[in-house]
Amino acid sequence: MVDGSRADELREAMIGALREMGAVQSDRVAEVFRAVPRHLFTPGAPLEDAYDPRDAVHVKRDDRGVPISTVSSPQLQGSMLEQADIRPGMTAMEIGSGGVNAAMMSWLTGPEGQVTTVDIDSDVIERARRLLDAAGYARVNVVLADAENGVAEHAPYDRIIVTVGAWDIPPAWVNQLAPGGRLVVPLRMRGLTRSLELEREGDHLVSRSAMICGFVAMQGAGANRERLVPLRGTRVALRFDDGWPGERVPDMDRVLDTTRAEAWTGVTIGGTESFETLQLWLATAFPGFGKLRADADQRSVLVDDDNLWFDSAAVVGDSVAYLTTRRVEPGVSEFGAHAFGPHATDLAEAMAEQVRIWDREQRHGPGPNFGVWPLNTPDERLPEGLVINKRHHRVTISWPAATSATTGQGNQEETQGE
Ligand SMILES: C[S@@+](CC[C@H](N)C(=O)[O-])C[C@H]1O[C@@H](n2cnc3c(N)ncnc32)[C@H](O)[C@@H]1O
Repeated sequence: MVDGSRADELREAMIGALREMGAVQSDRVAEVFRAVPRHLFTPGAPLEDAYDPRDAVHVKRDDRGVPISTVSSPQLQGSMLEQADIRPGMTAMEIGSGGVNAAMMSWLTGPEGQVTTVDIDSDVIERARRLLDAAGYARVNVVLADAENGVAEHAPYDRIIVTVGAWDIPPAWVNQLAPGGRLVVPLRMRGLTRSLELEREGDHLVSRSAMICGFVAMQGAGANRERLVPLRGTRVALRFDDGWPGERVPDMDRVLDTTRAEAWTGVTIGGTESFETLQLWLATAFPGFGKLRADADQRSVLVDDDNLWFDSAAVVGDSVAYLTTRRVEPGVSEFGAHAFGPHATDLAEAMAEQVRIWDREQRHGPGPNFGVWPLNTPDERLPEGLVINKRHHRVTISWPAATSATTGQGNQEETQGE
């Protein structure tokens, strides 16, 4: 038996926390969290888990234990509903079904609107249908399909919210968007996922906002495989989700046997401050940007005890550098770069210098603009910055103001390379 007053109490506390985090900003989104009892969509989970503002509730894992379906965290759902700005009477599609988010979208569109939710997994679809019916949301269309093709039957959509990590924007999502429509999608670019609020501008899409986030990866026709570049077998490796940016994948398996170079920046960061635009800045500045991961027993090769971080890396020639931090006082760290390889000293300094430029020119700015362009768009039409060629679209990351991480050398272009 669920304790209704306890659920109400936890729900109010969750809404308060979401407001504080900025994940809920409008009264309408606060109201929808109040109106749709979340715990009805997380049967079997403790109430505290259902109403935890930050955590997802896992629904299904694959054979290796990796989550493939979750009821997303209220923080993510709230932020994406704010990005989507769903109004009464709208037609909306959710890609990836957990039940509760479709119910909230249905509440927001009201009796005149229509919501379709689509998932590739029959277990997820059966669960969503059952829970939506039981909670009084039988009007939501629940469709079993690979969302790569959208759901033409109920299109066009004023709003499409993608709740699974996408590597590209399939043409169907753009084609099924109504005039003036909006697509909210967690798009992975160089291993960095941002929930983009996209709208049409002529033949392409432009971003109105971007939010850092993490999602389970897309399955089916839109799934994308990462390319691994081993630095010490697979125990320390670089991951490139857009393919290797150069012609020849370098053999870097011995690079960590060289002497480590360090460069410190004088740029500091507080414990809770986000530096999500720094990662995007480095991705724009270095064509060989990728994500670095290491087994726990290899960590000491990369960083010392007071270094906290080594996630964002760049390969230049036969050398590799990565962003790191060191504690300078309680709650404050300094950014720096470590590097290995024949040009380690220069590369560490080059990365440190990009951190300083970001700090001076972009840190307190609005962040970059993202564009999604047809594949046949010529380079001259694209804004200066980073161009990532995907399967169906060319994605651009461009920065405000006169400054650019590409130091006037034009676009840093990357091909899919698979
Ligand atoms: C994070 S969950 C969805 C969460 C849900 N929207 C919520 O808010 O509770 C992601 C879902 O995407 C689904 N998915 C993955 N690839 C898909 C594809 N190609 N087409 C449709 N659904 C897909 C998975 O089966 C999974 O259920």
